[in-house]
Amino acid sequence: MPIRNRLAELHDEIAAWRRHLHENPELMYEVHETARFVESRLREFGVDEIATGIGRTGVVAVIRGRRTGSGRVIGLRADMDALPIAEATGAPYASKVPGRMHACGHDGHTAMLLGAAKYLAETRNFDGTAVLIFQPAEEGGAGARAMCDDGLMERFAIEEIYGMHNMPGLPVGQFAIRPGALLASSDEFEITVTGRGGHAAAPHEAVDTTLVAAHVLIALQSIVSRNVDPIRRVVLSVGIFETDSASSNIIAHRVRMEGTVRTLDPECRALAEERVRRIATDTASAFGAVAEVVWTPGYPATVNHPEQTVHAAEAARAVAGTVIDNVDPVMPSEDFAYMLERRPGAYIFIGNGDTPMCHHPAYDFADDAIPAGSSWFAELVERRMPVG
Ligand code: NI
Repeated sequence: MPIRNRLAELHDEIAAWRRHLHENPELMYEVHETARFVESRLREFGVDEIATGIGRTGVVAVIRGRRTGSGRVIGLRADMDALPIAEATGAPYASKVPGRMHACGHDGHTAMLLGAAKYLAETRNFDGTAVLIFQPAEEGGAGARAMCDDGLMERFAIEEIYGMHNMPGLPVGQFAIRPGALLASSDEFEITVTGRGGHAAAPHEAVDTTLVAAHVLIALQSIVSRNVDPIRRVVLSVGIFETDSASSNIIAHRVRMEGTVRTLDPECRALAEERVRRIATDTASAFGAVAEVVWTPGYPATVNHPEQTVHAAEAARAVAGTVIDNVDPVMPSEDFAYMLERRPGAYIFIGNGDTPMCHHPAYDFADDAIPAGSSWFAELVERRMPVG
């Protein structure tokens, strides 16, 4: 029985929740209405405990199995926040809020976990406790870390933690996972180079900051090609490069650039930071300019624990019939990484079919993936905490 019959029956109801959330997107920690909607549904299902305000606006539901003698506790997590993007899907349930949309499918993640909550509260066919986590601020706000800092893992005695994200390009309802790093760390840097401005016709009296900064920019690309072990994966991109010159006949005094570094392991992450700092300051110095580097650490790499990856893959195989269990890592990042730093667990991709990529204005979550996604959550709980 790949998809649980009950969850197949609930498909339309879960899709209706998903579309309601899609119409009413909220950003970062300001997911007040979304959290209230989640809380209301959980009350209707008759879960055993509901805690709100964890990590500011996170919601947690506790569902006990028909037996709890095993003492086991499994955590399942979904994210609730949307993005500051103007929606271009033309869907009848498109965002009602200008400039905001669920462009990453977190509406689908929340609805699928609610579907699992309804099923688990009805059936309770497990020996232990399921803790369902609805978190705010995945998109840049580190909501997962905020919930952990609020004592999430200890308060609910969570032993293992599992999460899921939809993946455009993977067939609907298929699953893909790998042990080890699945998503990258994401750090940002800002480099300000200061030379000496002047007249473009008298460069010998100036220190041409644009030229210096251009050397820095090019040298930064030697980090990936010359410093990083070729079998490791690192991305360094500079997205902003601006001078303070207002005219073609003025030599800039100051140049500012901003970039991002993505890596899959802490060694590469530390190496990249050290090299960015050194290249910027020493290159500038060689030209008689000064560089200042501000390094802002973002999410760490999302690293799946080997044993829990096997459990997650087995549950996926049971639901979908097959699973890709050694998919290539991808270089976006995900704050579920913080939960995996605190407890063993795993993060899996569920296919969203042939849709635009996440964060695209025409992206939409595939409602057809709902039964598989909700079933995977339920399957994990029943497999990891079997009755008898
Ligand atoms: Ni996302």
